[in-house]
Amino acid sequence: MFNPLALLGAVTPRLVLNGALHHLRTAAREARLAAGERGRLAALAEAWRAARRRPGPPRLSPPRGVTAFAAEPRGASVTTDAGVLRVVAVADDVLLLRMAPATNFPPATSNAVVVSEDQWPAVAVEARAVGGLDLAAADAPPPVALRPGEGVVVRTGALTLSLSGSPCRLRLTGAAGQVLFDEAVAALGSPGVGFSARFGADAAFYGLGEKASALNHAGRRFELWNVDAATYTRGTDPLYLGVPFLVAQRGAQAVGLFLDDPHRAWLDVGATAPGAVDLRAAGGELRLYLLAGTPAQVLERYTWLTGRARLPPLWALGFHQSRYSYFPQARVLALAKELRRRRLPCDVLHLDIHHMDGYRCFTWHPERFPAPRAMLDELHGLGFKALCIVDPGIKVDPGYRVYDEALARRFFLTWPDGEPFTGPVWPGPCHFPDFSREEVRAWWGEQYRGLLDDGVDAFWNDMNEAALLTVPPGAGVPDVVQHAGGDHAALHNEYGALMARASAEGLRRLRPGQRPVLLTRAGWAGVQRDALHWTGDNRSTWDHLRLSLQMVLGLGYSGVPFTGPDTGGFTGGPSPELFARWMQLSSLLPFFRVHSVLGSPPQEPFAFGPRVEALSRAALERRYRLLPYLYTAAWQATQTGAPLARAMAFAFPADRRFASTDDQFMLGDALLVAPVLERGARAREVLLPEGAWHDFETGERYEGGRAVRCEAPLERLPLYARAGAVVPLWPVQQHVGERPLAELQLELRAYPGAGESLLYEDDGETPGGPHRLSRFERSARGLARRVEGALPGAPARVLVRAFGVDGPALRLRGGALGAQRREGDALCCELEAAGAFELEW
Ligand code: GLC
Repeated sequence: MFNPLALLGAVTPRLVLNGALHHLRTAAREARLAAGERGRLAALAEAWRAARRRPGPPRLSPPRGVTAFAAEPRGASVTTDAGVLRVVAVADDVLLLRMAPATNFPPATSNAVVVSEDQWPAVAVEARAVGGLDLAAADAPPPVALRPGEGVVVRTGALTLSLSGSPCRLRLTGAAGQVLFDEAVAALGSPGVGFSARFGADAAFYGLGEKASALNHAGRRFELWNVDAATYTRGTDPLYLGVPFLVAQRGAQAVGLFLDDPHRAWLDVGATAPGAVDLRAAGGELRLYLLAGTPAQVLERYTWLTGRARLPPLWALGFHQSRYSYFPQARVLALAKELRRRRLPCDVLHLDIHHMDGYRCFTWHPERFPAPRAMLDELHGLGFKALCIVDPGIKVDPGYRVYDEALARRFFLTWPDGEPFTGPVWPGPCHFPDFSREEVRAWWGEQYRGLLDDGVDAFWNDMNEAALLTVPPGAGVPDVVQHAGGDHAALHNEYGALMARASAEGLRRLRPGQRPVLLTRAGWAGVQRDALHWTGDNRSTWDHLRLSLQMVLGLGYSGVPFTGPDTGGFTGGPSPELFARWMQLSSLLPFFRVHSVLGSPPQEPFAFGPRVEALSRAALERRYRLLPYLYTAAWQATQTGAPLARAMAFAFPADRRFASTDDQFMLGDALLVAPVLERGARAREVLLPEGAWHDFETGERYEGGRAVRCEAPLERLPLYARAGAVVPLWPVQQHVGERPLAELQLELRAYPGAGESLLYEDDGETPGGPHRLSRFERSARGLARRVEGALPGAPARVLVRAFGVDGPALRLRGGALGAQRREGDALCCELEAAGAFELEW
């Protein structure tokens, strides 16, 4: 049973009082700043009211007529009565739409975009006025309403954007003349920006980051404003991590809208009219990228603009066991030994806030963790890595080094009068570093040195929305609080991503020979470059099990490929069945962690009795066997932006039956996962794409293009392989690196049919170290492996398990053929082949 009283360990009366007083103190502070003619009391009342008001979307003034047109090297600029609209061709398939009140556009600075103008590819652009429109002649003409046929056209090899009509409307068409959107309006408010467009009533919509609802957003409204969404449930919006990137999809044709503006934003995604999108942000210049292509191409472009995830070390793809919190250190070590004794594979143990001294970041609690180095040594000896939490709130505490340094160097967020902003978090009153400043990021990164030297392997940035613990909850850092890069209204949404950047940059600097492992809760466009992510404080309910898949798929569509839920649920305590099903699902999601709140019942895989322990072990062992496959999918994400866990609509966009499918998914290129998400269910339906599919374990063939019912007793997670796929497996290890790479036998499951599959291998930890890429080609007559690159110490023992093969293997080129045997309808043959080979049967 969940014991809420245990929470008192963290939520002390002092914390509650502080949290309650915060509202008053903040209102008083804001009133003091605003007081003048109005007088203190009136200003206080207004500040109090303003803090309670929920902001809404800005009003906009759409352009009615045009006054000037100028062709530019990469596009055109059109002056309207409501601002200047610039169309810039970034690439053939990427247009940037900018709108500002006047022609002198400020330099487009962005924390999200990493591609600078000089890195844009060359594009042939044609920009002209059409239909006899002539604005060049007049000096300062009054706005001219565009007559039918008149307008402006900007065209690249792949896209045409045209402006016409009165009021002015935009239309985007593809190379074949197909309309991608129509009736679009770009507009400014004062302040605020907006864009609306029609995509067709049958369009599906994906993306926007972390959203606790169905994968297809059609028919819903959303807000982008990162918050601590503790206790969220289906429909709660916003959550911790927003991404201002929406993909509108009609079959294989996708258009990405990426609003490069971190201000608070609101979206109506077909809620008012099917297929119509209206997006508004509270401030900034309108800077909207339009990306077009297949969903995979659009995501490739989006992650080109905002950066791709870096490859984590292989052990980060292993299993993580966490709890709020494991302490003292004897308990951590006992847990490590227990997992090993029970042979439950695990790579990482997490240390939540109780490892700190009074919740002071970068410290150890002297009684709970008297000898952290010895503990970490012992953990490492057992094959574990340790991960520590780090929050942004720095305890206001003269004498605490981190606080003293940051205060002296004026590194904290401030009120407009320069005084540091104070907000309550775990340690009580805290100040918050201004991560928008490069020197603050450099200093912050340096703070990790001590914990790294102690032997901590990985980190977790939490509460970085930035969350405050107020009573009642919900207050955030006020909009007027100052960052170097602007006020909090402009930088709030980027705070988490900037913290993650500061942390990751620091870790890379301090340990250049290692790939940092950082977990973040909050984030924004681009956060994928620096951190893994988890979906925050979910609950132990069946609906949250379903949500966790919907959210992971949605995040993948938003460019965030490494994410996963608190398996079993953070609050509540799962039933044994729910826990077992959750372990099955999470074992095939990119980030795999069990975590639960203070006071929750034990939530380790062995805490639910022998049956669930056995089921958990099976799920863990399957994950560890699949590591070479998962790692290859992870590498692909770093190359193309395609997520590890792919929505069916992403992987099979032409098949419109999948537009709203979010209870099954593709893991990498080859595996279709159909988890059981319902209590008591012992069977489910799976919608198979066209072509043949094979049971992952037995190779049994299923004709695709239809729904099949599959049996799913508690022991079974329905898992299918694409015909012609080759899936690489390793033997089970209790942790990554338990056995040297060279000793692992590589099993290649080759499913009937013809197809090409990849295997990416490296040493699993060195950044930019040697690697090799294998291409497997399965055909009716055999299996061939071609290899690029060399990897010293790569496994040379191969077991080919070729399903649907009648006879024995006849010939091997490139190695020595060993024992052969039949298992079911599979031919299993052992080979000694260090690199390329050709096997014929
Ligand atoms: C937040 C996090 C949660 C963590 C807790 C204590 O609620 O979301 O994962 O356990 O803080 O640090």
